[in-house]
Amino acid sequence: MAKAKTLYVCRDCGGGFPKWAGQCSDCGAWNSLEESISEVNQKTMPRFAGYSGDAAAAMIRPLSAVDAEKTQRTATGLPELDRVLGGGLVQGSVVLIGGDPGIGKSTLLIQALASLSEHMRPLYVSGEESAEQISMRAARLGLPVDRLQLLTETCVERILALADKHRPSVMVMDSIQTFYSEQLQSAPGAVAQVRESAAQLVRFAKQTGISLFLVGHVTKEGALAGPRVLEHMVDTVLYFEGEAGSQIRLVRAIKNRFGAVNELGVFAMTDKGLKEVSNPSAIFLSRHEEQVCGSAILVTREGTRPMLVEVQALVDQSSLGNPRRVALGLEQNRLAMLLAVLHRHGGIGMVDQDVFLNIVGGVRVTETAADLPVLLSVLSSFRDRPLPLGLAAFGEVGLAGEIRPVPSGEDRVREAAKHGFKRILLPAANRPRKAIAGIEVIPVQRLSQALSVLFE
Ligand code: TYD
Ligand code: MG
Repeated sequence: MAKAKTLYVCRDCGGGFPKWAGQCSDCGAWNSLEESISEVNQKTMPRFAGYSGDAAAAMIRPLSAVDAEKTQRTATGLPELDRVLGGGLVQGSVVLIGGDPGIGKSTLLIQALASLSEHMRPLYVSGEESAEQISMRAARLGLPVDRLQLLTETCVERILALADKHRPSVMVMDSIQTFYSEQLQSAPGAVAQVRESAAQLVRFAKQTGISLFLVGHVTKEGALAGPRVLEHMVDTVLYFEGEAGSQIRLVRAIKNRFGAVNELGVFAMTDKGLKEVSNPSAIFLSRHEEQVCGSAILVTREGTRPMLVEVQALVDQSSLGNPRRVALGLEQNRLAMLLAVLHRHGGIGMVDQDVFLNIVGGVRVTETAADLPVLLSVLSSFRDRPLPLGLAAFGEVGLAGEIRPVPSGEDRVREAAKHGFKRILLPAANRPRKAIAGIEVIPVQRLSQALSVLFE
């Protein structure tokens, strides 16, 4: 195939140039030119040839005539992965899995593929590891591999030609940063290459109806390399999270066209690969035998499942003019805001104190229900007074010092009761309609009320 003409397009203004330059001469932005395939060439390329006006008209039909039941889901053999996918792998869907190097992306996918090979024709395309390495890993994990097809190749055009012949029903591309398209001259991993390779793969998946997993590495800044260009091309975006040195691996759905967003799958990395953790509350909760200062139990809800996690705070006299506010697993700005609310509406200032906050177990809490427990743990450390044993809490704290309700209050109370908690502090509007056996509910409307219940 003849090489397509390349064009350098400005990321900011969209201006196109035949040659790369450090500055866009249209808008003056620096370092904004990226390689791409020229428009004219794209139009003449054969993969667009199928779309004549008539073909497009035939596809218009009333929504009511579309059979939604047709979405076929296949269990991946890993229920926690099925959970984040929204109940199994959807046929024809494209899933992007991002995460730090070495966190377990390849391990998870080879385990899923081996199990999917019972009902589907899987193809694992690796641009990173050699066939021997992959085979060794599969053997060590004791996976059934007789139906697992493997391809080590990095040129997308060649991969697609082979895939077209072989017709797999599920395909893994590990990792998208290692593949390149012959259409472009830039090196694999360059933004333009990542985008073009992914675009060709996604188009292939949609045309042939295969399910596609794309593995993506995360840059130092925490974004998928290739400035998030991949995220809107795909149906589902999953991110691996986990603390270095911890066995726990979390897979979070950031975007999902087929299920709940923010759904969390919990795994543990063992010497036999990733094992599922079906009752995550049990591991995130480090039960203290005695009361400890600065610890509070939070009932969070990630996706559709409520979960108990421990929040720990340490408040210490600061020697700096600008005291430190450090939050791990929670947004830093949120902590600063909560401390301001505590000052204004609780009358407790921490201007000369460093505040450190940690969500135990490497979990990242993204919802506002953590507000109240965060303030309780901070205050408990500040006052050097432990919270009562067997107490859990949740609730959003508003800027006016009010405690605001959060979704699914009753589910959270049930989860706390299930794990043996005796009392729960919650927003008054979240009070369950009927009493829940074994747990005493303490509804609060204002922050001052919550503080007086616990600290006076
Ligand atoms: P891997 O899946 O190769 O990571 P990624 O594809 O995200 O870069 O995971 C490799 C890490 O997992 C490596 O540090 C070793 C560890 N590991 C185990 O602890 N047990 C196992 O059974 C396997 C396969 C890997
Ligand atoms: Mg890998």
